[in-house]
Amino acid sequence: MSIDIKKIGLFTSGGDAPGMNAGIRAVVRACVYHDKEVYGIYRGYQGMVENDIVKLDVRSVSNIIQRGGTILKSARSDEFRTIEGRKKAFESLKSNGIDALVAIGGNGTFTGLHKFYQEHGIPCICLPGTIDNDLPGMDYTIGYDTATNTAVEAIDKIRDTALSHNRLFFIEVMGRHSGYIAINSGIAGGAVAIIIPEEETSTDELIAKIDVGAINNKKSSLVVVAEGGESGNVWKIANTIKEKAPYYDVKVTILGHLQRGGSPSYFDRVLASRLGVEAVEGLLNGIKDVMIGVKDGKTVYVDFDTVDNNRHEIDEESLRLAKILSI
Ligand code: F6P
Repeated sequence: MSIDIKKIGLFTSGGDAPGMNAGIRAVVRACVYHDKEVYGIYRGYQGMVENDIVKLDVRSVSNIIQRGGTILKSARSDEFRTIEGRKKAFESLKSNGIDALVAIGGNGTFTGLHKFYQEHGIPCICLPGTIDNDLPGMDYTIGYDTATNTAVEAIDKIRDTALSHNRLFFIEVMGRHSGYIAINSGIAGGAVAIIIPEEETSTDELIAKIDVGAINNKKSSLVVVAEGGESGNVWKIANTIKEKAPYYDVKVTILGHLQRGGSPSYFDRVLASRLGVEAVEGLLNGIKDVMIGVKDGKTVYVDFDTVDNNRHEIDEESLRLAKILSI
């Protein structure tokens, strides 16, 4: 361990994700293990600006590994978007003696952190905490596995009622610009069609697909729709289908924020635990201004340009699989 870091500040930012608490616990425990002080910054960048910072100890993170949400809270901060706001945030850190940062969040969180590093030079590492799984250079983000399991559980329940009434359901799942939750909950939930931002689907194609199922004796159908798709929101799609194919009894369910809550899966807990420890050790070894992740089983550090200029593509094989299985 080569770099002289004494006090690490830790915060969560952006949309919360199941597993953030496991990440917080891991960062705190790793700091204590390596004889470093650790400070919790509440409400993300806004708490940094307002000096809402509290020293944490090994017991501050007891009994949180299984809990959804984030004990450090999360908030959007317009103030941190300004140079003055970031200066105030830097002063807060200085007044607490914080000389390095670990963040848990998505794209926006990392963008803020990178800017802050460029202006104030505080070494920092970001853990990927978002249900969207939209970060390039790594396989999974913290929270994605739990959110997808939650979506599948809900889809299974909708399937029961869809079947009882011979209905066609449109189920909207989260994923602002990313079809990851949709494609995999759709495959796992047996959807007849999956609509994602990464792929265009015309309503005529969609009706043709659903019709094939009906002709082949399918009594009910589920269509999973990612919220951020080009084809418009789920209501728009469902209403167009109602108009063009009035012979279907169409219903819409929006899963929304329930996908963000709940106890994290074992996968998200382990991923967050591993990345939390490795982020602290990375900082102590001089690594900074990166997002940490796991790719093909190995720890990777992804720089800002990679995150900013690329997207986490959905692999062709998943798309092919969804098509084959939906007939
Ligand atoms: O980025 C995570 C996410 O849950 C997206 O899937 C969703 O579009 C967005 O956050 C919702 O944000 P908010 O909680 O601010 O409405």
